[in-house]
Amino acid sequence: MISNLTEFYIPTKMKIGVGSSEQTGELIKEYGLKKLLIVTDQGVINAHLMDGIEKSLKESNIDYLVFDEVEPNPSSEIALKGVQFLKQHECDGLLAIGGGSSIDTAKGIAVLATNEGDILDYEGFGKIKNPALPLVVIPTTAGTGSEATPSTVFTNKKTSFKTAILSPHLYPKLAILDPLLTINLPPSITAATGMDALTHAIESYISKFANPVSQALGIHAIKLIGENLSNAYFVGTNVKAREEMLVASMIAGIAFAHAKLGNVHAISHTFSGIFNIPHGIANAALLPFVMKYNLPAAPGQMKEIAVALGKDVTGLTTIAAGEKAIEAVVEMNKAFDIPNNIKDLGVTLDLLPKMVEDSMRSGNVKANPRLTKAADIKQIIENAYYGI
Ligand SMILES: [Fe+2]
Repeated sequence: MISNLTEFYIPTKMKIGVGSSEQTGELIKEYGLKKLLIVTDQGVINAHLMDGIEKSLKESNIDYLVFDEVEPNPSSEIALKGVQFLKQHECDGLLAIGGGSSIDTAKGIAVLATNEGDILDYEGFGKIKNPALPLVVIPTTAGTGSEATPSTVFTNKKTSFKTAILSPHLYPKLAILDPLLTINLPPSITAATGMDALTHAIESYISKFANPVSQALGIHAIKLIGENLSNAYFVGTNVKAREEMLVASMIAGIAFAHAKLGNVHAISHTFSGIFNIPHGIANAALLPFVMKYNLPAAPGQMKEIAVALGKDVTGLTTIAAGEKAIEAVVEMNKAFDIPNNIKDLGVTLDLLPKMVEDSMRSGNVKANPRLTKAADIKQIIENAYYGI
């Protein structure tokens, strides 16, 4: 594995702790920003998650405007709209408050503030020329990991393709992880986002591009999620579980930023692009089927995952122990009321050729531990549809 350790880079400063968001103004002061564009959505405002943050910004004399039009699975149009607003009001930095959609939207706006054109022009790795405007992020869900990654995803509305953009310019300057902002998340969103984080951790752990550092982070994230997601789901106000989930989500983000993901994300992006299914739910339902496909290619790592998820593998063969990891994920889905097939999510097979084609276009297929061709993707989707 050591030969794959070519680089490890994480420039984002992390501030973690209960009540940390109330220090936002003070923390941002060191970047010398005068006027922020807050990028968020109506849900965050209605849940009063911004109250303490706004108070803190006012106390530090930091001016701000609010752009609250973030939508789930953000389209490229929203980045254009946001950057127009930002330029009109001459903001010199951004503050994203919300889930992955808010953070990803803010990343797109920050890029377009200093680079020409449409965000979709920058599909792929390393196309962004100029540094983006400084971005501070405060996640209000524990799942996306976007606070710790150099990537963002926008949907091309014309083709329904979820376009990934990767660049070191997309790393936020600062991420503030405050569990108090997540204690009122409904169980369904807690589960969807938590299972997204688990998918990041598992896919990056068995990725072909994994390195010792990303794997250390990935397996620890799996362990933290195994120990805490259920508590966060059933007892939302458990602050310790919420904090551990925020940490798990963040470190899983760092892991996949270095190791990439795999077939789950390659396929699930097509579901949310075409059927608008929440990203985490699509991942959770697909995960057992992709793990089953990958088991022969990564039995030892799958055994480690089973152990991290609390399974007893004493006396089992490596393959049988690896199967326990799949069993653990199936049990988690069941506990969180997530279907263990994709039919019940509203996926239909009439667009199967497009789903296969779009999945193969994802860079994540190349990271998947077991060599994957179009026919394999088709088979995985069919298995997941029929629940085989
Ligand atoms: Fe994800």
